Amino acid sequence: MAQYTSINDEKELALQKEYMKKAASYVADLETQIGHQPLCCVTTFGCQMNARDSEKLLGILTQIGYAPTDCEEEADFVIYNTCTVRDNANQRVYGRLGFLNSLKRKKPHLRIALCGCMMQENSVVDKIKKSYRFVDLIFGTHNIFKFAQLLVTMFENREMVIDIWQETDQIVEDLPVNRKYPYKSGINIMFGCNNFCSYCIVPYVRGRERSREPKDILMEIERLVRDGVVEVMLLGQNVNSYGKNLEHPVTFAQLLREVEQIEGLKRIRFMTSHPKDLSDELIEVMKQSDKICRHLHLPVQAGSNRILKAMNRRYTKEQYLALVHKIKSAMPDIAITTDIIVGFPGETLEDVEETIDVVRKVQYDNAFTFIYSKRTGTPAASMDNQVPEEMVKEGFDKVLKVVQDTARERAALLQGQIMEALVEEVNEQDESLMTGRLSNNMLVHFPAPRTSIGQMVQVSLDTCHGFYYTGHVVG
Ligand code: SAH
Ligand code: SF4
Ligand code: F3S
Repeated sequence: MAQYTSINDEKELALQKEYMKKAASYVADLETQIGHQPLCCVTTFGCQMNARDSEKLLGILTQIGYAPTDCEEEADFVIYNTCTVRDNANQRVYGRLGFLNSLKRKKPHLRIALCGCMMQENSVVDKIKKSYRFVDLIFGTHNIFKFAQLLVTMFENREMVIDIWQETDQIVEDLPVNRKYPYKSGINIMFGCNNFCSYCIVPYVRGRERSREPKDILMEIERLVRDGVVEVMLLGQNVNSYGKNLEHPVTFAQLLREVEQIEGLKRIRFMTSHPKDLSDELIEVMKQSDKICRHLHLPVQAGSNRILKAMNRRYTKEQYLALVHKIKSAMPDIAITTDIIVGFPGETLEDVEETIDVVRKVQYDNAFTFIYSKRTGTPAASMDNQVPEEMVKEGFDKVLKVVQDTARERAALLQGQIMEALVEEVNEQDESLMTGRLSNNMLVHFPAPRTSIGQMVQVSLDTCHGFYYTGHVVG
């Protein structure tokens, strides 16, 4: 297992800072050419890791002189940070690239970059080289710390610039980051995945598991808290195996204990927890903590032992249910959410009934249900018992119905309670309301001043609307 060295880091950081200066001079030239500050638009597909990567890209872009915009049409630089976990994510990117091409025809100085998980697949890069020649820059997941350098190369070349790495053992600390929310932030605690669930492409596009040093994580969080952050989400594909490969191994529970000590930090979340690695120590730390939120995302994927084995999940239905029982006994008010896949090769409708049984027994507060998507290069893609579409659809609809029914039942249980919410934003539908998030991740909408964004308030949960509440601030 590769270890990263901080000496390497510092050299790389200094180098990238030089490239940022150089890139800034190109952006200044562009500003003179177009007569206004150049705008950049970073569009994120996929998971929280990608969202965090986008904040890093935006950090560098703003540092070198771009102003951020959410509108692709008005941007002078558009970057798609892509996801390839299911095929529909890929199709959305191809669909939107056509639109970018038409924008570039109208605005020839428009630069287009593609990065993220999809770009780690050779077939994707080949397709872009062949059919989407107007793209200026392509890079992957392992070298985003080199973004400034890649931008300089892009500004100095007319040809498409492509830089994809198969792996990296480098973790570069302290690059600029531009956060989306002032009061909450994701923090990478580890990168990559070693689990190789047989349906999943993530280990191939994100590489082997690498943990950051606890001191780097803690320093980053302390800095964020000084900057106004009250809630952090610790990110990793399997946070429960955090720290195992560090030079001085640390458990995830130990890391949480240290994060908890940070003064001024009010809430701690994390994702994702693989059931096979969830320790008693973690349950104990969560139970004793005032800051760790009462929410656990615990993907089950399937309920049939035969399918779980073929998925290489390394737990049985019974082990999973016993784990949930242990967690709920320790923390009766905890919300448990999950991910479910329907239509894995060889899955019958009887197998799907096993999944439904798990949903009924666990009583999930929410569950993301996905139709199995065949990912080239994964073991499941070459299994010869792929399930016909109609059968998948039938199973999917059945699971979805039970998931929604149980989630509604769970939500209704909170009626009339007074709970603490972090005020997050103005309600999208009704500007007179604010949207807050409870510790258990549920949303509640209530009248409050805009100035309360980022603050913790006590809210009475007055009316349940299926999966969320409306209420009013008390006290
Ligand atoms: N590391 C996390 C999951 C990351 S991917 C974990 O192990 O739980 C997020 C979710 O996408 C997975 O939990 C899974 O439910 C789903 N997923 C992954 N690959 C998929 C595929 N090939 N088809 C359908 N869903 C998939
Ligand atoms: Fe994919 Fe499994 Fe790794 Fe999650 S744990 S990212 S599902 S291989
Ligand atoms: Fe997608 Fe990559 Fe995340 S494939 S789900 S963006 S790790």
